[in-house]
Amino acid sequence: MMIEAADVIEQSLEQLVERAGDPTAAVYERLFAEFPETQERFWRDVSGAIKAEMLTMVFSCLTDPGGPFQLNLIRAERVNHDGFGTPHDVFNRFFWIVMETCRALLGQGWTPAFEVAWTTRIEEVLSATK
Ligand code: HEM
Repeated sequence: MMIEAADVIEQSLEQLVERAGDPTAAVYERLFAEFPETQERFWRDVSGAIKAEMLTMVFSCLTDPGGPFQLNLIRAERVNHDGFGTPHDVFNRFFWIVMETCRALLGQGWTPAFEVAWTTRIEEVLSATK
């Protein structure tokens, strides 16, 4: 289990919040730039609560070394998302979009250890929830 990777990701997020504040807006800007057609699917999300919940789920499953509960939630969301028009490869991309956004926001503060931890953990979560 990738306890260490999870801890390193936690550290990276603490630094990110300290230096750049809440990354939510930047994450969705990047998502909508890459998949413009997904923007209108958030029409119900007037308050931003759904976007926040989505991002929270990604952070929590990357930083929680993760029991089966976390992974089952992701599996369930995968099926839900497929049902409302987000195929698996697009669903998977969201994890990488989150990582790319955090890396861009941290700039020089993004370390090789962060890169390894995020990549390892995302690959682990994706392969465990296929
Ligand atoms: C590019 C990929 C993704 C797109 C385009 C997308 C899109 C959406 C949309 C449009 C909604 C709102 C649905 C509604 O109106 O009820 C939603 C909800 C949600 N998404 Fe995503 N999503 C993506 C990836 C993910 C990932 C990777 C996760 C979790 C790891 C996730 C977790 C959630 C959760 C928890 C909700 C709210 C509850 C629900 O409706 O099931 N999403 N997503």
